[in-house]
Amino acid sequence: SPMERPLERPLERPWERIVVLTGAGISRESGLETFRDGDGLWSRYAIEDVCTPHAFHRDPLLVDRFYNDRRAELWRVRPNDAHLALARLEHAARAGEWDGEILIVTQNIDDLHERAGSRNVVHMHGELLRVRCTACGATPDWQENCLPQTPCPICHRPALRPDVVWFGEIPLHMERIQAALDRCDRFVSIGTSGTVYPAAGFVAQVRDHADTLDINLEAPAVPTAFERSMVGAATRMVPRWVDEVLAG
Ligand code: APR
Repeated sequence: SPMERPLERPLERPWERIVVLTGAGISRESGLETFRDGDGLWSRYAIEDVCTPHAFHRDPLLVDRFYNDRRAELWRVRPNDAHLALARLEHAARAGEWDGEILIVTQNIDDLHERAGSRNVVHMHGELLRVRCTACGATPDWQENCLPQTPCPICHRPALRPDVVWFGEIPLHMERIQAALDRCDRFVSIGTSGTVYPAAGFVAQVRDHADTLDINLEAPAVPTAFERSMVGAATRMVPRWVDEVLAG
């Protein structure tokens, strides 16, 4: 605390706690499709056919193919400058070059944040590269043909499903996310349409105690939702914002 510090040392910059919420738009320029843009996934698939518990019960093969197609896409793409800029900010914190901490709360199920070098990442909608056993709860790495009859590699019971949160299900890690939102100084939303809850409600929860910024190709639907918005491609805007943060 300042009382313990010898006066001649300058006060460091205040410790900053940043929560970054990302959506499909941050991975768009890597080549992954979003959901609700013109050519998005929901223009080619019906949510109720591939993204609900009932869909998996009714036609597990179709659901398995939907996720296998998205995994095949994921293996063909790389993190982009937006993912890399966020990883640079986390690295600066670990290296003591920036007095702060960053937590990425992502709605995305791709692993591009991790491949860019970010480690403080929470996947609230699960992960494309994992499966989940509904019998023992294990979340092993994905394997070929994750179908209900596929035996779990841990408990060997036929109870596997994609480790993805479907519509109507509870997002993951919400306690940790809520705690981070309650104590953050800055909240930045990148590449999300802000149409799916609970993520869409985060900005309203933090506005009383954090600076809020939206980075998106389009201006926010509700102009007053965020104090500030940077309108443009994530690969241009996110590095610019990270440079601002690091410049203090
Ligand atoms: N740079 C910045 N923003 C972009 C870019 C880009 N290059 N390209 C697209 N966007 C923005 C779009 O303007 C849009 O606001 O990304 C957003 C994508 O919105 P959605 O397709 O709705 O994706 P997302 O918000 O992540 O969806 C949330 O809905 O379908 C469910 O579970 C799924 O996690 C997903 C959730």
